[in-house]
Amino acid sequence: MSTQAKAGPAVGVAMKRKEDPRFIQGKGHYVDDLSFPGMLYLALVRSPYPHAAIKAIDIAEAMKVPGVKAVITGKDLEAAGLGWLPTFHGFDKQMVLAIGKVLFQYQEVAAVFAESREAAADGAEVVQVDYEPLPVVADPFTSKTDQVLLRPDREQKTNHIFHWEVGDRDGTARALESSPKRISQRMWFQRCHPAPLEPCGCVAFFDTMGRLQFHVTSQAPHVYRTALALVTGIPEDKIHVVSPDLGGGFGNKVPVYPGYVCAIVGALKIGRPVKWVETRTENLTSTGFARDYHMDVEIGATEDGRVTALRVATTADHGAFDAAADPSKYPAGIFGIVTGSYTFPVAHAEVDAYFTNKAPGGIAYRCSFRVTEASFAIERGMDILADELGIDAVELRRRNFIKKEQFPYPSALGFTYDSGDYHKTLDTALEKIGYAALLKEQAEKRAKGELMGIGVSTFTEVVGAGPSKHFDILGIKMFDSAEIRIHPTGAGIVRTGTKSQGQGHETTWAQIVAEELGLDPQMIMVEEGDTDTAPYGLGTYASRSTPTAGAAIAMAARRIREKARKIAAHLLEVGEADVEWKDYRFQVKGVPAKTVTMKEIAFAAYTNMGRNEPGLEATYYYDPPNMTYPNGTYIAVVDVDRETGEVKVRRFLAVDDCGTIINPIIVEGQIHGGLTEGFAIAFMQEIQYDSDGNNLNTNFTDYLVPTSLETPHWETASTVTPSPHHPIGAKGVGESPNVGSPAAFVNAVVDALSPLGVRHIDMPVTRDKVWRAIRDAKGRPA
Ligand code: CDP
Repeated sequence: MSTQAKAGPAVGVAMKRKEDPRFIQGKGHYVDDLSFPGMLYLALVRSPYPHAAIKAIDIAEAMKVPGVKAVITGKDLEAAGLGWLPTFHGFDKQMVLAIGKVLFQYQEVAAVFAESREAAADGAEVVQVDYEPLPVVADPFTSKTDQVLLRPDREQKTNHIFHWEVGDRDGTARALESSPKRISQRMWFQRCHPAPLEPCGCVAFFDTMGRLQFHVTSQAPHVYRTALALVTGIPEDKIHVVSPDLGGGFGNKVPVYPGYVCAIVGALKIGRPVKWVETRTENLTSTGFARDYHMDVEIGATEDGRVTALRVATTADHGAFDAAADPSKYPAGIFGIVTGSYTFPVAHAEVDAYFTNKAPGGIAYRCSFRVTEASFAIERGMDILADELGIDAVELRRRNFIKKEQFPYPSALGFTYDSGDYHKTLDTALEKIGYAALLKEQAEKRAKGELMGIGVSTFTEVVGAGPSKHFDILGIKMFDSAEIRIHPTGAGIVRTGTKSQGQGHETTWAQIVAEELGLDPQMIMVEEGDTDTAPYGLGTYASRSTPTAGAAIAMAARRIREKARKIAAHLLEVGEADVEWKDYRFQVKGVPAKTVTMKEIAFAAYTNMGRNEPGLEATYYYDPPNMTYPNGTYIAVVDVDRETGEVKVRRFLAVDDCGTIINPIIVEGQIHGGLTEGFAIAFMQEIQYDSDGNNLNTNFTDYLVPTSLETPHWETASTVTPSPHHPIGAKGVGESPNVGSPAAFVNAVVDALSPLGVRHIDMPVTRDKVWRAIRDAKGRPA
């Protein structure tokens, strides 16, 4: 069967059906709910220094703490060949517990195992570590000078990690040189953190058969199993990974963390189950951070606002180890989407990454691998260009959009955009928000000296990694899978290689099966996250689930339908060619009265199948022919208080196009959640380090998470341009709001301040930054 299946219906695959799709399934337990007889607790000793040599570690006092069973250090792990952990994209490795020196504050130094959580924490407190502080490299620009070499363990004696580039360097330089208009701006997409409400954790034990049972907060359980087999040498069939319900992930639960490895080593060494659940501070200070890209953006244009070239040069801060969870061939993720929704004839993007004395990471926080940074760069850049040209920011975008008839569109940086109708999405948004009236109101307010801003972002995303010819993690190709079994009574189960963390796969996967087979979605159970039962898949992140596993489900269901057709022919006593699928049932062609339902066929598959093979099940491994390219128009309206710098988001409208919508309620929930995260990033969140390398945002009093009091009211709408290559026409949506919204917020604030001559403010756009910008404003140059 071809993967280039015909696109499905335009809106709501299962919403056409009578059943109410608002049902919920789930495992009903989290890692921290698990308890096993004899279970020990693990606490990690962490470094107070960002960069220091370890002279000695004394565990004697810790071993005296009642309940403490064992303490292990980096040297113990090194002796067992487990001192270093490969990072996911394979360019670097990471210390499990510090060996010889620490490279960031809160780095894991020793592991304490005890009878209770409290005893483990008490033990960790009295492990004596003798540190000798070393000079700290707190930013990538200092790192560039190589005056302090951070990673002497590497062959390459420099702090430079990688250089990556794409596009036409010389052609772009020439086009920029000859462009009548040109803007350039350095933008920093600050270091931030996904901060899922449930932090990371695991329980590890070896069962009576000697099999590793590993319950873990993982967005990619199969990849964990393979990685564990490769690193520990335990045969893969002797490893059972279970990822139960997850309290959010957002990319934070993709990497394998030292706590997991220590729990497994402890379970093996002591012969008892071990639980490790990190604290909020541990989560914020040592697990995968996001972004930290310093981007120099240049755009060339004609006098009348046609873009001629784009150049983006990025300096990336990757922290102490290069633990970015990117596909192997993409050290800077899919940053090449930086040309956005516009017809740039030529472009060039490059990224240089450096080590610093900060926590490692660079994970795709609700983002398809650096797409958020890219989207921010181009959407801010377009606004700065509009300002320079004196053209309305909406009009500039409209002039440069890829047109509907240009799809499939080959971008200057090598992507083939599948579909879109950017003008329609934009017009829908402008009409819904009343753009013309807002412009009028703004002009009136400006005349009175009031600061009102309208910020637009018309972003294009790229999700669904991916075609296996381009995308792999640790060499494992990035397809995904589905297995469907229909039981005799017409109930069934669908299992996939993805793993929901709250995105509602339990609902939408059942809907796809129901729609394809004419069954009741409430009777389709969804199971993910168990490597013993689910078919192999690469997991859930980067909004890949619908483009990959969602497609695999539709294709597996169609396989079942083909098998069912044979049984239908047997039941209807006609040849297979005389049977057609119509209105969710099989009927004899031209005889509407002679029909048989899938429920009846399911029963027959086990009781009266004729000469057909018994049973009704199918598996499909789906390798997408292309990524999907969702897009959207987001508009923020803000009022800025001149005296205090306070920004009030008065309105925010998100019009998204994610192709065929499977479940509008779930999609709306995804948009609301992602916008709230985008709002937090734009206005509140930054993992800050001082010049001595101290982390200043170690808990939720310093790293702010918006409550319902701060969060604006979200208005949403959609346009539907199905993906031509996805079996049901669906594109991913989960990360669109996080990708598209930061630029809309910042554009709105800068627009409000533009009469004062303000051109850019780095995120988070806090009240004091805005107040300072107003105080220092020199007024718009004449
Ligand atoms: O990979 P992840 O599940 O995070 O992202 P996604 O594929 O964008 O899906 C997020 C949720 O929205 C899932 O429950 C999808 O099935 C649902 N969705 C939908 O109902 N319609 C779409 N066109 C895209 C996603």
